[in-house]
Amino acid sequence: MYLSAAVRSMLTGLILCSLRVAATQQLRHPPTRIAVVGAGIGGTSAAYFLRQKFGKDVHIDVFEKSDVGGRLATIEMEGNQYEAGGAVIHPLNLHMKAFVKDLGLSPRTPSADLLGIYNGDEFVFQESEWFLINIIKMLWNYGLNFIRMYMWVEEILDKFMRIYRYQTFDYSFSTTESLLHAMGGDDFISKLNMTIDEAMQKSGFTQRFIDDIVVPAMRVNYGQGVKINGFVGAVSLAGTDSGLWAVVGGNNLVCSGLLYSAKAQLIQGTVTSVQEKVRSTKPGNIVTLYEISYITDTGPGLDLYDIVVIATPLNGNLGNIKFVGFDPPIKTFSRPYQQTVTTFVHGRINASFFGYSKSCQFPLSEILTTENPKLFIHSISAVSPVNPVPESDASKASGLRVWKIFSPEVLIDEQLHQLFESYHAVKVRSWLAYPKYSPPEKMPPIKLHRAIYYLNSIEWAASAMEMSAISAKNVALLSYHQWYRKDDHIDQEDLAERLKTEL
Ligand SMILES: Cc1cc2nc3c(=O)[nH]c(=O)nc-3n(C[C@H](O)[C@H](O)[C@H](O)COP(=O)(O)OP(=O)(O)OC[C@H]3O[C@@H](n4cnc5c(N)ncnc54)[C@H](O)[C@@H]3O)c2cc1C
Ligand SMILES: *[C@@H]1O[C@H](CO)[C@@H](O)[C@H](O)[C@H]1NC(C)=O
Ligand SMILES: *[C@@H]1O[C@H](CO)[C@@H](O)[C@H](O)[C@H]1NC(C)=O
Repeated sequence: MYLSAAVRSMLTGLILCSLRVAATQQLRHPPTRIAVVGAGIGGTSAAYFLRQKFGKDVHIDVFEKSDVGGRLATIEMEGNQYEAGGAVIHPLNLHMKAFVKDLGLSPRTPSADLLGIYNGDEFVFQESEWFLINIIKMLWNYGLNFIRMYMWVEEILDKFMRIYRYQTFDYSFSTTESLLHAMGGDDFISKLNMTIDEAMQKSGFTQRFIDDIVVPAMRVNYGQGVKINGFVGAVSLAGTDSGLWAVVGGNNLVCSGLLYSAKAQLIQGTVTSVQEKVRSTKPGNIVTLYEISYITDTGPGLDLYDIVVIATPLNGNLGNIKFVGFDPPIKTFSRPYQQTVTTFVHGRINASFFGYSKSCQFPLSEILTTENPKLFIHSISAVSPVNPVPESDASKASGLRVWKIFSPEVLIDEQLHQLFESYHAVKVRSWLAYPKYSPPEKMPPIKLHRAIYYLNSIEWAASAMEMSAISAKNVALLSYHQWYRKDDHIDQEDLAERLKTEL
């Protein structure tokens, strides 16, 4: 058939036009399948938020090679369960709070304990049961440093809380830096470039206060001293606030609850690789999908997904996921994680190890430590089970308690014999617990590829349950806006100002 040039070009135009329509329409189709790798608090809350955003029809698979909960896990000791990983939650951690409420779980507040800070020779700080005495001691030794610290943390927390407002209004961020910048501007970003030591010195805290009070807080929370970055340092100091809480039955119940609530499919298996696959569905219509290879007890498996969320650290032996055939290649991040060993001991603490005479009743139930090479522990504290049981008077009088110790290395028998007068049960769990922080800190990317997201980038700013939950919501929003091309909800500037007038 003969067609005039004009008609031909008109037709080509039409075809191109309809192809373009097909292409954009294809982008606006909802995704059919989403994969989440890792069922810790990050992965399970990602599944929950992805379901909220993408609706009831999308299929969500969550891969887990070990136990649901990841770094939230309990350990059994003489019939009771104790938190062995992530233990306490800040009262202003709004996502964790909302999860517990939505899932019908209950919060518990660990009992207020008398705290001491031991430097290897003596206690540099020791709480008494008398509130007024505590205040006088603090003022005497540290002047206004305590009050100033409270205000310093409060100011940071105030800015931190902005993220909840942004997320309520559906705003997302494509990098961890831009997320932090939206919360606290250059001030937050610059905290990644300095140590908490430098940050606090700059704000006028005394070296004595930093050595005696701040160092022990960093050691108990992050197993590292004050050379960690200023942002994670501030998060760690917020952990000294009052009102910390945990979940009755175990914090990991939040993870299994979120999975169930998200109607996600749990696949018990180890993801080994992610590969890009190009498929043409009909002529002129190509889609790119991600193929996930995994290994379960029954053998290897393969599945295709539109969106992939990596919710585990991608550090060497932690993630061990290969990204095959990407151009440019997806880099893996080889920076190390810090080992922290949790040891549970049922026994009587050796008061004389801490300079007390053996006969007197040891008053403290939480001991933090300063930096001293001869100290082999970071902290030791009496703990209660995740299901509260009344402590019997008999066991109280006998001084027998369950103690939880954090240390950088596995404790040897000789060390346990020094710490305890007597003991009859020991349980140990080692973790690659959190990043080894070393500012200036460069954040790994959140977006690894067109529709592959890395939730644990945020851990390099600070590792905590709430940080993973915030990142999970961010990744759910970001993947949604990128899928539907809603650029006006990604990396917006001046949100704090713009949202002031919104209700
Ligand atoms: C001892 C300790 C104490 C802590 N204390 C606190 C605290 O008091 N408060 C607080 O807020 N935070 C605390 N944290 C930090 C907190 O626990 C973590 O930041 C948080 O739990 C991280 O959750 P996540 O889901 O991002 O990662 P994870 O919990 O590590 O989840 C990742 C999951 O992915 C799985 N996985 C890995 N690779 C693969 C693969 N290839 N295929 C399939 N699955 C895979 C893993 O098995 C794991 O279950 C503590 C951590 C530790 C270790
Ligand atoms: C932080 O340090 C990096 C280099 O390590 C630099 O590129 C960046 O500009 C610094 N940011 C701030 C806010 O100082
Ligand atoms: C207790 O601590 C003291 C002082 O460090 C030590 O001499 C003693 O051996 C420890 N052990 C016991 C069981 O008392």
